[in-house]
Amino acid sequence: MKRIKIKELLSSSPVGSDVTVKGWVRTKRGNKNIAFIALNDGSTINNIQVVVDIPDFDENLLKDISIGACICVKGKLVESHGQGQAVELNAKEIFLYGKADADTYPLQKKGHSMEFMREIAHLRFRTNTFGAVFRIRHAMAFAIHKYFNDKGFFYLHTPIITGSDTEGAGEMFHVTTMDLNNIPKGENKTVDYSTDFFGKETNLTVSGQLEGELGAMALGDIYTFGPTFRAENSNTPRHLAEFWMIEPEMAFYDIRDNMDLAEDFLKYLIRYALDNCKEDLEFLNSMIDKNLLERLNFVISNEFVRLSYTEAVDILTAADRKWDYPVGWGRDLQAEHERYLVEQHFKRPVILTDYPKEIKAFYMKQNDDGKTVKAMDVLFPGIGEIIGGSQREEIYEKLLARIREMKLKEQDYWWYLETRKYGTAPHSGFGLGFERLILFITGMSNIRDVIPFPRTPKNAEF
Ligand code: 4AD
Ligand code: MG
Repeated sequence: MKRIKIKELLSSSPVGSDVTVKGWVRTKRGNKNIAFIALNDGSTINNIQVVVDIPDFDENLLKDISIGACICVKGKLVESHGQGQAVELNAKEIFLYGKADADTYPLQKKGHSMEFMREIAHLRFRTNTFGAVFRIRHAMAFAIHKYFNDKGFFYLHTPIITGSDTEGAGEMFHVTTMDLNNIPKGENKTVDYSTDFFGKETNLTVSGQLEGELGAMALGDIYTFGPTFRAENSNTPRHLAEFWMIEPEMAFYDIRDNMDLAEDFLKYLIRYALDNCKEDLEFLNSMIDKNLLERLNFVISNEFVRLSYTEAVDILTAADRKWDYPVGWGRDLQAEHERYLVEQHFKRPVILTDYPKEIKAFYMKQNDDGKTVKAMDVLFPGIGEIIGGSQREEIYEKLLARIREMKLKEQDYWWYLETRKYGTAPHSGFGLGFERLILFITGMSNIRDVIPFPRTPKNAEF
C-alpha cells in the first residue's frame, strides 16, 4: 500500500480507511496491554497517534521502537477518544526501518537549549521547533519566486565565483586552486594569480547585484536569489559568513519606486506566511515568542515610516539614552541605533534614506547636495537592517569618478561601467537577507537557528 503523508492523512483521510504511514517516533507511552506512539513524518507539525495492541505484536520489535526510531505502520484510521486529535491509527502491521538507541539518541523528550541543538544540527530537524522553522523557510523561498514571477520579474542566476567586489568592503573569501604551501610570487613578492585556475584573483560573491544590474538593463525587471558570502568577523545573532540574499533590480525605478516595492514585497511575504504556515506559526507563537503573531499582523497593517538619515541622526542625538557607539552625522548607524528608532521611537518598521556617501557603496546614486546618496535601508523590529538597497548611479562620469575616489580597481569594473556607456537608464534595486526575514517571521532569536547548517567564524561543521 502506498505511503500517505501525515499532513494529507489528517486533512483528508476518512475514518475507516486503511493507510500506510512512515515516520519517526516522537514519544511512546502506555501500559502492558497497549502502547501509544506519536509518529511524525515532517510533512506537518502534527503527529499521528498510533495505537498498538501489545499482545498482537512481537515483544522484541516493540522494545526497539523507542524515541527517534523510524517505522512504517499499516493500520486503520479510527476516531480518537483521546485529547488533542480527531483520529488515530490502529496498527495492524509495524515494520522497523531503523532503531535509535535510547541510551545515546540525543533527542530524548526533555527540552534542549538552542546551543545544544546547534551541536546536533544533523538531528535538530526532528524537533517541533526546527521542523516548523524549516517548513516556513521553504514556504518563504517559494513565495519569493511566486511574488516576482507574478509581477513579471525574471530569475537571473548570477555567479557565485567573481573577480570583483560588489560592496567594495573587501570582506571576501578567496577562491583558488593554488598550493597554499607554495604560492607563486611575482616581481614585487605579491601573489602571481596568472597561474591560478582562473588566471586572476577570484572570490566568493558578496552580492549578485552588479551582474543583476546587467540583466535589468535588458530584461527590465530581474531578481537573484542565491547564496552570498562575507568574511566579516562578526559574531552576532544576525550575521552569517554564508547567507542567502534576494536581490531584485529594476530598470526605470527611482528610489521611491524602490521603497514601494520593498514594502509591498515584505508585507506580501508576511501575509503569505500567515495564510500558509498557520500551524507552524501558532506553535512558534506559543513556544518561542508570545508576541510573534501580533507583531506579524502589526507590520502588514501599518505603513512603514520613511525618513532621511539626517533626520534619524537628529532623533538619536536628542534621545535620552547612553549609546555604546557614538551618534553623529557621518557615522554609520549601529544595531542599537536602528533598533531604537524602530522599537522605541516609531514602534514600526522604518525606511531610512539618503545616507552620507562615505559610509555607502560606490554604485549608489549621488544626490545634488554632494554629500549624500540615494540609499535605503529597511529596519525591522527585533532585527535592525533587513533590507539594504539604493537607486544606482547611472551617469558614466559620476560613477567612474566615485570608483576612482574610493580607490577601487577600475579595471575590475569595465563591464559594469559599459552599461552606463551604452543605453544607460535610471534603475534601482535592493537586497533582502533571507535569514533575517526568516528570523522575523519565525520569532527565533539567533540567525544560526534559521539556516540548516550555519557558517560562522570558526564554525563549518556538517
Ligand atoms: O546591505 P547589504 O550589504 O547590501 C548589498 O549587498 C547590496 N548589494 C544589495 C542590493 O542592493 N542588491 O546586504 C543586504 C542585506 C542586509 O540588509 C541584510 O539583511 C543581509 O543582506 N545581510 C546579511 N545577512 C546575514 N549575515 C550577514 N553577514 C549579512 N550581511 C548582509
Ligand atoms: Mg547594508
